[in-house]
Amino acid sequence: MWDHDTLARYQRDGFVLACGLLSAPEVAALNAEMPRLLDIDGDDGLHRERERSGAVRQVYLAHRHSPPYRDLSRDARIVGPVKHIIGNDVYIWHSKINVKDAFEGTVWLWHQDFGYWVRDGVEARFVSAMVFLDRATVNNGCLMVVPGSHRWGMLPHFSDEVTTSYKQWCIELATLRERLEEDMIQPMTGEPGDVLFFDPNLVHASGHNLSPLPRKTVILSYNDVANTPKPVENPRPDWVVSREYAAVR
Ligand code: SIN
Ligand code: MN
Repeated sequence: MWDHDTLARYQRDGFVLACGLLSAPEVAALNAEMPRLLDIDGDDGLHRERERSGAVRQVYLAHRHSPPYRDLSRDARIVGPVKHIIGNDVYIWHSKINVKDAFEGTVWLWHQDFGYWVRDGVEARFVSAMVFLDRATVNNGCLMVVPGSHRWGMLPHFSDEVTTSYKQWCIELATLRERLEEDMIQPMTGEPGDVLFFDPNLVHASGHNLSPLPRKTVILSYNDVANTPKPVENPRPDWVVSREYAAVR
């Protein structure tokens, strides 16, 4: 549970960065799994996306197939605040390790996560927790957020299939030109073990990794158990829209 002020800050800004939530040995145990999780030939139930260079961009489903990630996805230090924010039990919508390898990791254009999820037959009753697995700097492509932008409501998105290897739902340029001012952008730099809790309508993006340091994070996204997807025309696969609706205990 969070105190009143922390919850109020989350509601005002659309995010809270909780510094030092995980200890160094806990982060080391998560990073020790990487060689196996990044094995692009692994036939192990994980889902991987790659950069055009061939480097792994994302690994989905670690919370089902790797014990330290399974424990992390149920950790009270994460699930407690998430349930407090949502005001109900939650299940795991998906998890993804965003790898952003040194020099190779490419951009995430400006978007709201709900710009993707609105097509999945759900309402915006989610919280995501981004756990920093490496130091996050401006040079290695830390997340950039726009405080308070979750209160803008869902902005118009379009599907970008050219910028990276991965189809991204992005906020339309006309809307960005109208709404986004340079001084609004806040880089989420931090240390391994920090955790960023954020709202599904928070406007965010991140740049290319130009640094010799990798910038690995794992994002655990939780949905209200009363918000399971209604039928939609093109349901997305279970690795990104989980059909396991059991409440996290
Ligand atoms: C995301 O928006 O899901 C990814 C952003 C990042 O990893 O920098
Ligand atoms: Mn996102």
